[in-house]
Amino acid sequence: MVTHKQLNIGLFGFGVVGEGLYKVLQQTPSLKAQIKKVCIKHPGKKRNAPAELFTTDKNDLLFDDNINVIVEVIDDSNAAFEIVSTALKNGKSVVSASKKMIAEHLPEILQLQLETGQSFLCESAACASIPVIRNLEEYYDNDLLHSIKAIVNGSTNFILTRIFEDKLSFADALLLAQQLGFAESNPKLDVEGYDAVNKWTILLNHAYGIVEHPDNILFTGIQNIQLSDATVASEKHYDIKLVAQAKKLKDGTVAAFVLPQFVKADEPLSFVKNEYNGVVIESGFADKQFFYGKGAGSFPTASAVLSDIAALRYDYKYEYKKLYHHKPHHLSADFYVKVYVSFDDWKFIPRDNFEWIEEWHAGEDRKYLIGVLHAKELFNNTWWKENNTSLILTPEPIIENLDIINLKKRSLELAGVI
Ligand code: HSE
Repeated sequence: MVTHKQLNIGLFGFGVVGEGLYKVLQQTPSLKAQIKKVCIKHPGKKRNAPAELFTTDKNDLLFDDNINVIVEVIDDSNAAFEIVSTALKNGKSVVSASKKMIAEHLPEILQLQLETGQSFLCESAACASIPVIRNLEEYYDNDLLHSIKAIVNGSTNFILTRIFEDKLSFADALLLAQQLGFAESNPKLDVEGYDAVNKWTILLNHAYGIVEHPDNILFTGIQNIQLSDATVASEKHYDIKLVAQAKKLKDGTVAAFVLPQFVKADEPLSFVKNEYNGVVIESGFADKQFFYGKGAGSFPTASAVLSDIAALRYDYKYEYKKLYHHKPHHLSADFYVKVYVSFDDWKFIPRDNFEWIEEWHAGEDRKYLIGVLHAKELFNNTWWKENNTSLILTPEPIIENLDIINLKKRSLELAGVI
């Protein structure tokens, strides 16, 4: 019989996720995992755990030889990086939920794992309760991953659902997301897409071996979406979601971004409401697969941390197979996207920069068009997120470089221009 090793945990953070983990571990005694110490920032706060468990000195955890696992679920990404680096160098395994920290320090974190040989697990950092990282690592251990399309931020999905289905105001929906413990302490990170692009950076690494800083990935959030956009969407039988997407192009590079997108009513992501997340993977031979689960909140996030802790009993490590065992992929900046853009005045829209415009409507207050842009137009300019302008991708937005000439010709023919 295999005997699993005893895990003695030093926990950093006792907020929504940290306290959730504490409760979850109390209900799973068979795991042989025990929290020895919890490091917190504010000792004055009332906590639902024995006072002797807590310290404000990080070294009580990082330099305690009896602690063999550091679990880090704090908010401050700089402090989190320091904790994780020291823990790995001190021979401890690490479980982290700090998506911002991981995304911003990916090269260093990869290097630290190589140098120390320690496990660094972060399943809870992307899509909380959905086991997507380990699936990408283990199950999709090949070169057949054609595309991934996902909802990776619970708060924005919650806000969009409540605004469009329950007619709540943006401010009320956000407040509710905060009260339920879904939102980041700085909710701008959720609303403006930073949290989603951080998660996408992590998932692109496990899916395709891409090592890229989040600043180099095209993204925005839901801050510019208007009620008039929702009206257009419902006329066309679409939902509006903040979608993270990656697609392998014919030249082997990967087109990837996080942008609002129209989602057809019969697509799996349209089924994803409130704080749920969803991931649709398209791979060779299997066709489409859909993963669905809670993407934010105390217990759903703690469940993924718990699963990482359980995996440490048998010394599980990510092998980063796509990065080290296959030819890693790189991001593409050379593709086109079909977009819907709504705006207050034509003067804000650089019409000549569109490859073609195939539909436009001019209402008194609000106007919109549907057209095709090169991705570089979005990378290099900001007009599409300024002056009340709202950009939403169409359902199948990516057009490959090689296909553009034929499509343009066909579109102009249909419009009667040629
Ligand atoms: N603020 C995050 C979200 C929490 O709403 O998805 C889970 O990572």
